Amino acid sequence: MENTIERIYADAMDALASATDVDGVNELSIQYLGRKGRVTHFLRNISSLPAEERPLAGKRANEIKRSLENEFKKAEERLTSSTQTVTDRIDVSLPGRVPEKGSLHPITQITNRICNIFSQMGFDVVEGPEVETDYYNFEALNIPKNHPARDMQDTFYVSDNVVLRTHTSPTQPRVMEKRKPPVRIIAPGKVYRCDSDLTHTPMFHQVEGLLVDRHVSFSDLKGTLAAFVHQMFDEETTLRFRPSFFPFTEPSAEVDIRCVICRGKGCRVCSHTGWLEVLGSGMVHPAVFENVGYDTSQYTGFAFGMGVERIAMLKYGIDDIRRYFDNDYRFLSQF
Ligand code: DAH
Repeated sequence: MENTIERIYADAMDALASATDVDGVNELSIQYLGRKGRVTHFLRNISSLPAEERPLAGKRANEIKRSLENEFKKAEERLTSSTQTVTDRIDVSLPGRVPEKGSLHPITQITNRICNIFSQMGFDVVEGPEVETDYYNFEALNIPKNHPARDMQDTFYVSDNVVLRTHTSPTQPRVMEKRKPPVRIIAPGKVYRCDSDLTHTPMFHQVEGLLVDRHVSFSDLKGTLAAFVHQMFDEETTLRFRPSFFPFTEPSAEVDIRCVICRGKGCRVCSHTGWLEVLGSGMVHPAVFENVGYDTSQYTGFAFGMGVERIAMLKYGIDDIRRYFDNDYRFLSQF
């Protein structure tokens, strides 16, 4: 007897496990629990069992009946929900989750903008190594050993004759050694100086420019840089060329622009002078041409170098250069 009801139960559970839809479950429910079902049949025939077996058999058969009712109901629910369409279960009118989008670092954006402006004027974009020889970083640029100008740049030395480049100017002799004039290049990249405060970081970015051809004059330099400043800032931004000194240019000039914050009235950013220094420039020194084998009786040229962080700080009104390198997501996501 006991075996019979247990067998019925096992059969029902096996069949249920392989049921794949609601109709299949209903079918099983009829086969086992219906009026002529196997469990019903067993319960009805309990009276024909020997008297001592009846109470136990009845109890077990009723347990099994309840268990199967429960299992069939659960299976029915499970199969009903999986046959629902996606739109029954998901509220498609809810707003979606917006994926976080990355963007270029502000320094990369400004570098690209500078390069684009000069590319449109016919300059080629080139790059030089960040680990540079003493020769290209200093010597070829008319900065001999023990020259006081070496003190201006707190150099990171890799070895006696190898440095982390302190400026992008070494790309000038590197390019000129390989190309004959006319040369028109713009060279962006990282540079390194042992310096760190509100306006200096040990690594920063510069863009170098060089143009060499016949009959290049200081007015070409002025016109080119004015065109650049007008595109980088706006047409109203005026420039000022201030005499200066660099060993690799003669004459040399530092270029200031009218303060983009106060428009020349004087403010904290321009230290109340109304002007902001943005780049160094000059006519290429004949000694530099001689180092690369250019004929100084035929060619003249101009060069300039600017700090990208400085331009970016002015453009975005940021007063602490270290912000650019803190990797603070809240800061970076504004650009
Ligand atoms: N290399 C200079 C510096 O890092 C900037 C500079 C000045 C570059 C004058 C030039 C130039 O090409 O002509 O301070």
